[in-house]
Amino acid sequence: MNIGLLGFGVVGKGVYEITSGRTDMQVTKVLCLEDISLPDAQSVKNFEEILNDDTIDTVVEAMGGLHPAYEFVSAAMKAGKNVVTSNKALIANFYDELLPLADEKGVKLRCTAAVGGGIGWLSELERVRRVETLSRVGGIMNGTCNYILDSMTSRNLTYADALRQAQELGYAEANPTTDVDGIDTWHKLIISANVAFGVSLDRDAIPAAGIRHIKAEDIANFKAHGLTCKLISTGKCGTGKFHAYVQPTLFTATEPESVVPTNYNLITLVGNTSGRQSFFGQGAGRYPTAYNVVQDLADLLNGTGFYCPYGPKVKVENTEKLRYYVRGGDQSAFAGKVDETWNGAIITGPVSVAEIHSWLKANDGAFIAAMPTV
Ligand code: HSE
Repeated sequence: MNIGLLGFGVVGKGVYEITSGRTDMQVTKVLCLEDISLPDAQSVKNFEEILNDDTIDTVVEAMGGLHPAYEFVSAAMKAGKNVVTSNKALIANFYDELLPLADEKGVKLRCTAAVGGGIGWLSELERVRRVETLSRVGGIMNGTCNYILDSMTSRNLTYADALRQAQELGYAEANPTTDVDGIDTWHKLIISANVAFGVSLDRDAIPAAGIRHIKAEDIANFKAHGLTCKLISTGKCGTGKFHAYVQPTLFTATEPESVVPTNYNLITLVGNTSGRQSFFGQGAGRYPTAYNVVQDLADLLNGTGFYCPYGPKVKVENTEKLRYYVRGGDQSAFAGKVDETWNGAIITGPVSVAEIHSWLKANDGAFIAAMPTV
């Protein structure tokens, strides 16, 4: 396998290093805008040099961002090249274009590193689907947010210091608002739920609330009640109805999510025969992520393509009702629905997921977290 590698940043460099010296796969060209000199590969500044190179059968996209990643990946597939990408924004946003294109051109597409970093989450979903029906997927999918929440909780770091450290450690996206606003988790949820349920969810109906507005006083409130806050994605499928959302969520000390440290992810599925299975590992960082890119390359060598067939487009309901911690904003909207008050914050009675997210959109600066369900 001859590989054209697009991007030589955190992930691309890791892929180059891990594949270096292998006889079954070689990076022969690297698209990199900076001047680099590599012992075993040619550095090029123009994508056409990879696209038009017939000796390159596989493109690894590790640039991130939507454009030109989408144009490069589509062009590579149209040219008959297989593609492995770690780019969750790309797959989530262009699911309806890239999957049919791979089918039409008879090429393979894999993106295991896009969700869960070093965890073989999507490849495991692929295996689970062979045997059983999934009713739920989701969990802690963003290493940066987990690092920030864990640092604020365990080390009393400020939000700003914790985010800076996550950036220095190479966990955060180029634009970290993508992490802290829950967009990165949203991308990963869309891919996971689409694969798990064999559908293409209506992205516009999937809300994401992040952790940008969390304060030390929120962490103090949670600690005082024996709770820990995590950013959680949820995808559910039951009786033909789909629910999908991203939101901060509180866990009691008995739940495994409550002790997930630093940049780790904990992603869970519920199957109709296996029950709950949770997958724990480093969700971000050079080598964990590059590891799963190389796993995908090995899968391509074995002839394995995407994790599921491209499925129908479906609506998202989000009618499920949960109790919420709400701090800030116009709390009069919850009059008659307040169960408790915690130091200026309220704990609501049951409110639908759709309703709380629509309230949050109109109340910028407020912070919400779903209360434990167990
Ligand atoms: N920014 C992402 C995270 C990188 O923090 O999880 C891995 O997808």
